[in-house]
Amino acid sequence: MPAMDYSQVAHWYDTYVKTDIDIPFFINEAKDCGHVLELTSGTGRLSIPLIEAGVSLSCVDNSSEMLAILRHKLAAKGLSIHIYEQDMCNLALKEKFDLIIIPFNSFAEIVNSDEQHQALKAVWNCLTATGRFICTLHNPPIRLKSVNGQLILRGKHDLDDGESLFLWSVEKYEPENCLVKGIQFWEIYDQNGVMQRKSFVDIQFYLHQQEDFQRLIQSQGFQVISLYGDYSYGEFQKETSPFMIWILEKDRNHAKDA
Ligand SMILES: C[S@@+](CC[C@H](N)C(=O)[O-])C[C@H]1O[C@@H](n2cnc3c(N)ncnc32)[C@H](O)[C@@H]1O
Repeated sequence: MPAMDYSQVAHWYDTYVKTDIDIPFFINEAKDCGHVLELTSGTGRLSIPLIEAGVSLSCVDNSSEMLAILRHKLAAKGLSIHIYEQDMCNLALKEKFDLIIIPFNSFAEIVNSDEQHQALKAVWNCLTATGRFICTLHNPPIRLKSVNGQLILRGKHDLDDGESLFLWSVEKYEPENCLVKGIQFWEIYDQNGVMQRKSFVDIQFYLHQQEDFQRLIQSQGFQVISLYGDYSYGEFQKETSPFMIWILEKDRNHAKDA
């Protein structure tokens, strides 16, 4: 089962995901960097600011619905880039990139261990010898604070036609396999507060512990340049940092053996 069926929610994605906390960080990392590949670009929340900042960007995502929105937004702005509808676990790209990014904790959407290895191998193969790989993840103790088996209102959003979207979710942690599993409920109300539609989507994602992720990336030929805990370059603090922002490069010794 995939982490989430984005075909069901793509048309709402830009309404319910408004965050921009990571954009200055990624612009700073990607500018003057040569060719950049964004895996899991989705509707372009980050891609479009990167392109507008002059970054030479290519995008990959495996959801045709998310990419259709990205294509539409690019066309409206008169922008054009290479977009590949591919699974990051089975990348088939001829070009090599100076920087590869997986933003917004999206590596966690690969819930199967073999596929995590495959994706990292694919990143390694698409990276130039001196390239960097930035992978952002949730920090488990912080993310787990809102994983409590309770129904939580994640947001209320105004839609264009005067309707309102309520997004609820309930999540549970399965520590034995490092998975958070849950259900998201999507409710649409009219201007009088009368519910018009309701649907649900199953979700799951993998919570990587710091040491486990470090072992994983080392096994696939990467070494750590830096580990930040937030998008202001704060040092990673295991108990308090919201994120793990891994800046990685190829391990030259591994490269010789591979
Ligand atoms: C949470 S969204 C993030 C989108 C965008 N990066 C952002 O920051 O708003 C996760 C995205 O990852 C994509 N995705 C999930 N698993 C994938 C995979 N195995 N290969 C390629 N894309 C994947 C989904 O289709 C979705 O667009």
